[in-house]
Amino acid sequence: MSQGSKIVIKDFNFYYGAVQALRNINLPIQPNQIFTIFGPARSGKTTLLKSLNRLTDLIFGTNHTGSIFLDGTDIYDSKVDLTHLRRRIGIVFDLPTPLPMSIFDNIAYGPKLSRTNRRNRLNEIVEKALRSAALWEEVKDRLHGSALRLSGGQQQRLCIARILALEPEVLLLDEPCSGLDPISTTSIEETLFQLKKDYTIILAPHNIQQASRVADRAGFFLNGELVEEGPVYQIFTKPRDKRTEDYVTGKFG
Ligand SMILES: Nc1ncnc2c1ncn2[C@@H]1O[C@H](COP(=O)(O)OP(=O)(O)OP(=O)(O)O)[C@@H](O)[C@H]1O
Ligand SMILES: [Mg+2]
Repeated sequence: MSQGSKIVIKDFNFYYGAVQALRNINLPIQPNQIFTIFGPARSGKTTLLKSLNRLTDLIFGTNHTGSIFLDGTDIYDSKVDLTHLRRRIGIVFDLPTPLPMSIFDNIAYGPKLSRTNRRNRLNEIVEKALRSAALWEEVKDRLHGSALRLSGGQQQRLCIARILALEPEVLLLDEPCSGLDPISTTSIEETLFQLKKDYTIILAPHNIQQASRVADRAGFFLNGELVEEGPVYQIFTKPRDKRTEDYVTGKFG
């Protein structure tokens, strides 16, 4: 099962001081699929996403045991370059956070810092990222207008484009549609569907309907434990564990 996996999480435990937030997680994640991690509040979804690109390193007093492999290399190995890791594994949070600058500069900011300053090349990178995030057609005539004037749904796609401009391999999304209206939510979901051809996507959905609509596979989290994982149709229609069944049928929330 773990053969061909992009990511393998092995015997992974995570602690905020004395609070254990993840309990012995074992999970392989395949490329070119959308994997959704779903479960009630405080079940550990955000902690797992942040562990995957080591954003948790920034939180004082945390520690972990076990491993997370990306293409076979442990991301917690002391030789891993964190900047490089976070380029390979990008993360998008619930609230869109465009920088107070133009649409163009929001996307060009990262590539400019690290790679290229050539205007032609930047034009290409910006267009490609905006096309991939399904935003190009809506903004191509106002690239130099402020990103803060975009709608919430457009801002969230801009944030996805900003990550794509860094050419990641894995996209982590933590409730990316939680503040959005249904039309914007649909456009983000359609965008994710297109993106999975080229990326490995891990999504904490903002509700279980979204998990069942967009994902290929799903893992149910409860109190830091991965209760079960499998193809979406199985998890939502024939779960093996009573706790998953109670959650997907709405017996608790
Ligand atoms: N910075 C922190 N310091 C201490 N404890 C934390 C911190 N962040 C999260 N926790 C604890 O870790 C556990 C898992 O939280 P986490 O945010 O990962 O859950 P979640 O599934 O993302 O929840 P939600 O659905 O509310 O976003 C909870 O018990 C939470 O209180
Ligand atoms: Mg969360």
